[in-house]
Amino acid sequence: MTTPLLTVSDLTLGYQETPLMSDVSFSLQPGEVCAIVGHSGTGKTTLLHTIAGILPVTNGRVHFRDQDISLLSGKDRQVYLAQRLGLVFQAFHIVPFLSVEDNVALSPVFGHTWQGHELSQKVREVLDQVGLADMAGKYARELSGGQRQRVAIARAMVNAPDLILADEPTGNLDQHTGDTVMETLVDLARNRGSSMIFVTHEEAYLRLADRVFAVENGKLLQR
Ligand SMILES: Nc1ncnc2c1ncn2[C@@H]1O[C@H](COP(=O)(O)OP(=O)(O)O)[C@@H](O)[C@H]1O
Ligand SMILES: [Mg+2]
Repeated sequence: MTTPLLTVSDLTLGYQETPLMSDVSFSLQPGEVCAIVGHSGTGKTTLLHTIAGILPVTNGRVHFRDQDISLLSGKDRQVYLAQRLGLVFQAFHIVPFLSVEDNVALSPVFGHTWQGHELSQKVREVLDQVGLADMAGKYARELSGGQRQRVAIARAMVNAPDLILADEPTGNLDQHTGDTVMETLVDLARNRGSSMIFVTHEEAYLRLADRVFAVENGKLLQR
């Protein structure tokens, strides 16, 4: 068995008056793709944001390879995670007044990965992979929903992350657009050997995952 990429141990999740999940423990091997399902409000987003270091780990541990991310503070944690993680959200979260290529370049800027000529080249390469090569100079606000989510996928991929976290990435797209976006996302992750955790309500997408977890009664259970 290789060293896990991600190890989550005995995590408790919740907000002051809202306990969400307890005893959350699992590990993810390099290249593994996992899906998480569960009713709305059960804490799926909270879990992804905790793994991503957006929310602090208050109980339990999150290890990224050998690094305990709960021991990293402030800027160190952000840079560490910006270099290793790619995030794709349901609401796209791309910046409407920046061009497509500048949106994608945000990840390298925050992660201090690429700059100058190399940055332009990496951005072009990843835009090509998501089928947006000829849109690079357009403003993000000029794009359709499906195209915006492709920009978000390119931004998540450009740093060649070890782990991609995708939170209902097709939740704001119509069925057909959602299907192609989901396939693009998983294909890219698999081709690059990145691990991925995606949250979805679409049963049809579960076949794309190696393992499926479900949030039930405050526990994360492998199906
Ligand atoms: N920042 C917050 N402060 C307090 N409660 C929150 C916060 N964020 C989410 N919640 C609550 O936690 C619950 C789980 O939210 P979330 O993780 O978004 O669930 P899911 O993604 O499974 O729909 C919801 O009831 C939500 O209202
Ligand atoms: Mg959610």
